[in-house]
Amino acid sequence: MSTTPRSALENVTIRRARPEDAAAGGHICYEAFCKINADHGFPPELPEMGAAVGMLSMMFSHPKFWCVVAEQNGRIVGSNCMDERSAVFSVGPITVDPGIQNSGIGRRLMQAVLDRSREQKAPSVRLLQAAFHNRSLSLYTKLGFDAREPMSLMQGQPLQFRIDGCAVRVAAMSDLDGANRVCERVHGHNRSSELSDAIAQGTARVVERQRRITGYVSAFGYRGHAVGETNLDLQALIAATDSFGGPGMIVPTRNAELFRWCLEKELRVLQPLTLMTIGLYNEPAGAYLPSILY
Ligand SMILES: CC(C)(COP(=O)(O)OP(=O)(O)OC[C@H]1O[C@@H](n2cnc3c(N)ncnc32)[C@H](O)[C@@H]1OP(=O)(O)O)[C@@H](O)C(=O)NCCC(=O)NCCS
Repeated sequence: MSTTPRSALENVTIRRARPEDAAAGGHICYEAFCKINADHGFPPELPEMGAAVGMLSMMFSHPKFWCVVAEQNGRIVGSNCMDERSAVFSVGPITVDPGIQNSGIGRRLMQAVLDRSREQKAPSVRLLQAAFHNRSLSLYTKLGFDAREPMSLMQGQPLQFRIDGCAVRVAAMSDLDGANRVCERVHGHNRSSELSDAIAQGTARVVERQRRITGYVSAFGYRGHAVGETNLDLQALIAATDSFGGPGMIVPTRNAELFRWCLEKELRVLQPLTLMTIGLYNEPAGAYLPSILY
């Protein structure tokens, strides 16, 4: 593998991202993910350049995302983002121009957001790592992240059936407290800000048993997460969806009952991922699906 000399770092600066950096950052993000996936025989995660630019446009302008770019001689060569919408901060996507990777820029982009998380006194920082990528696994581990959970990205035909005793419906703002309680019970913290964004966008669903909220999904696909008191609650949400959204949904592989159920429903595994964390981490006390951030 070719390695760019560390001297390439000399004129690289890290600064806060601005909304107008999204086009250049999105270009690199798209190219970097296409290349790393193609090099390992995996399909691209982002369907086209516009999706990467759109994602970074949202993150670079959202008041609760803290994003940085690496600049070399006035040209953007990489970026990284941190979602600060809940007590748990989450990192990604981090990408470096494929022509200049492995020269220390990724380390600086990651260090910048970790410095910020310490300033903000975030109790926990999390991310999902592409498990086939030796470099990111090594870099994140050296920076203090612990590998916590193996995950499987899954995709397939929508199942479109109902599970007896479980009512799935569109979430409303009035469901927020009930849904947050489930998240707190499972994870020890809520994701209220993310969930209210999702409710406003119309992607969130709740599941009720005996007229009590027992689980929710903010959205299926990379951007969404789900929690349930039991696997049955997640199965009801999964069974009801009309799409697994973009690259697919992420299932904790060690939740063997749920993972096996998905496989029996003919969903396919596309890619392995690893949940990595710094700081506080509770073993979840219930069922969950992470987003691509955590
Ligand atoms: C992941 C990515 C952001 C890292 O940025 P980078 O600039 O290439 O990485 P850096 O040079 O800063 O750091 C790589 C580190 O991993 C180490 N490393 C690389 N390959 C390794 C291996 N096989 N085993 C052990 N260590 C390895 C390097 O020595 C270096 O460590 P050091 O900083 O202690 O010297 C970049 O490679 C990228 O954009 N990849 C494609 C997109 C991607 O995968 N994003 C992350 C998704 S989880």
